Amino acid sequence: MTKENALPGALRLGINVDHVATVRNARGGRHPDPVRAAHLAVEAGADGITAHLREDRRHIRDDDIVRLKAELTRPLNFEMAATPEMLALALKTVPHACCLVPEKREERTTEGGLDVIGAGSFLERCIGELKSAGIRVSLFIEPDRAPIEASARLGADIVELHTGTYCEHALENDWQRVEKEVQRIVVAARVAHAAGLEVHAGHGLTYNTVGEIAAIPEIAELNIGHFLIGEAIMIGLRPAIERMSALMREARSSAGGGGSRRI
Ligand code: PXP
Repeated sequence: MTKENALPGALRLGINVDHVATVRNARGGRHPDPVRAAHLAVEAGADGITAHLREDRRHIRDDDIVRLKAELTRPLNFEMAATPEMLALALKTVPHACCLVPEKREERTTEGGLDVIGAGSFLERCIGELKSAGIRVSLFIEPDRAPIEASARLGADIVELHTGTYCEHALENDWQRVEKEVQRIVVAARVAHAAGLEVHAGHGLTYNTVGEIAAIPEIAELNIGHFLIGEAIMIGLRPAIERMSALMREARSSAGGGGSRRI
């Protein structure tokens, strides 16, 4: 086995901080800050941070990307649509990697993989320019042979296999379909690795669904966001409320109970 096609060793975890920005944007302002969340993720052992700058800026904003690039001590995976605007921003930012995804304004989250087979010449140009700038290029695709082969032809370094369908079937407890999807991803990972591509996977992964995917030896990295941000709210709510209560009690007791006000 050559060095190029050796199986990856440890499985890396990339944390997607988009939905910290979703909560921030619900109120405007700066809290909660996705960059602070990225630092916490790195402290907790994340191997990289992913942020998706959407055309409509519904979560991550341009200055989040600038700050992530300036402050992060781990690789930044800049998720983006293959458009002239995003290409220009990526070339200005020079992240460690760009993950090219399909994007529709009306969708809630990335639906389906990138159309690499019917892709026009702009995708090819985008990949070429990013690679020339020293940025690793990842294509987010359905776990099937044809898009994997097209990705290799286009010169991608990495394919990220879409695990969304697998996770949807798991949510529906449709175990027959779950098994079929796992097999589809197992085969796709093998095909991609044999084609010399680094293999990543992600979308919709939870504590319940991560095991089957993490066990696939060809996969080098998982990118996980929404579930972990939701879980962080659940795990973090108790200490956050306890701190607020403590601050309230402290303020009341130091005010001497006489209703005095500190202005
Ligand atoms: N990988 C890609 C390419 C994605 O678009 C997303 C969602 O932004 C993820 C991984 C993470 O998915 P989730 O937020 O469901 O964990």
